[in-house]
Amino acid sequence: MATPMPLSGLQPADPASMFAADVAGGLAHRPKRIPSKYFYDARGSALFEDICAQPEYYLTRTELSILARHAPDIAARVGARAMVVEYGSGSGLKTRRLLAALEEPVAYVPVEISPAALEATTAALAEEFPSLELLPLCADFTTRLALPEPSRPAAHRLVFFPGSTLGNFDLADAARLLAGMRADMGTGGMAVVGIDLVKDPALLEAAYNDAAGVTAAFTLNLLERINRELEGNFDLRLFEHRARYNPLAQRIETHIVSLADQLVRVAGTPVRFEEGEAMLVEYSYKYTLAGFSRMAAAAGLRLAEAFTDADGRFAVVLLERGQG
Ligand code: AVJ
Repeated sequence: MATPMPLSGLQPADPASMFAADVAGGLAHRPKRIPSKYFYDARGSALFEDICAQPEYYLTRTELSILARHAPDIAARVGARAMVVEYGSGSGLKTRRLLAALEEPVAYVPVEISPAALEATTAALAEEFPSLELLPLCADFTTRLALPEPSRPAAHRLVFFPGSTLGNFDLADAARLLAGMRADMGTGGMAVVGIDLVKDPALLEAAYNDAAGVTAAFTLNLLERINRELEGNFDLRLFEHRARYNPLAQRIETHIVSLADQLVRVAGTPVRFEEGEAMLVEYSYKYTLAGFSRMAAAAGLRLAEAFTDADGRFAVVLLERGQG
C-alpha cells in the first residue's frame, strides 16, 4: 500500500516544484514529516561531509577501511570489464577505491539527480581514470533507469550503493529499491552495498548526536532551506534536532522538535506547531546480516558475501541474483 508521500520518496522527478509539493504535503500530514533527501542542498552536502569527519560518526571511516581491506576480494568476485553503476554521485574516496581495485572496468555510470554534483563527479574521475568511459546519468535512482550502453562491451554490470544510504528508506521502499537494483544488475551482475549494523544504542545515538553539534546543524539546515527556497519564516532558535534509536524498528529516528507553540508561514500558508511537537525528517535503518539477507532474498537477491570490520559495526555486502 503506497503512502501519498513516502519519507524517502519514490517520486518520478525531483525539481523545485517537487520540493514545494513534498514540503506542503509533509506539513499537512499528521504527524508532520519531510523526506530526508531534501537535506542535501549545497550547505547540507557540506555539513554532511563534516559529519563524516566527526569522531562519533564511525560509518564513513569504517566503510572506507572495509573497502580498502577487501577491495581485492571484491574485485576478484566481480571479475574483469564490469560497467559500474553507482546510485548517487560518488566522486569520493569510496568510488575511487572500488574503481582502482577492479580489473579493467569498462564504464562508470553515476546516477544522480543534481546536474552540478554529476558534473563534479565526472570531472574528478576523468582525471584519475583516463581510460574509463564516464556515462553520467541524470536521474532519480529510485525510478526505473534506462542505463546507457558503453562503447566497449561490458562483461556485466556492478551496482554500487555505499554509505548505508539504503537505511534512509523505510522497509517497503528499501525492498522496491533492491528489486530495482536486481533489474539494473542484469544477468550475471552484482551489487556492492554498504549497510550499517545493529549495535549498542549508545554508540548509535552518539553517531547522530555528535558533541560538536554538526548533525544538529545539518538537520536544522532543512528549515533554512525551506526559508530560502519556499519563503518560509522558521525561527531556528525555536526548534531543535532530536535523534533517538528505536530498537524495535532497528532505526535512528530523527525529528525536528518545536520548542514552543508557534505559527510559521511557508509559501504563504500558516502552519501551527505545538510545544514539543516532533516532525519526522529521517530514518537511518540498522540491519543484522541475517535480517538484511532475508530482505535481499525477498527481492530476488542472494547475499554472496559480507565484509565487516573487526568490531562488526558496518558491512559491505556483495549481492548476486538469486536462483529462480
Ligand atoms: C546518508 C545514510 C549516510 O543516515 O547515517 C548522517 C545521513 N544523517 N547523519 C545516515 C546522516 C545524519 C546518513 N547517510
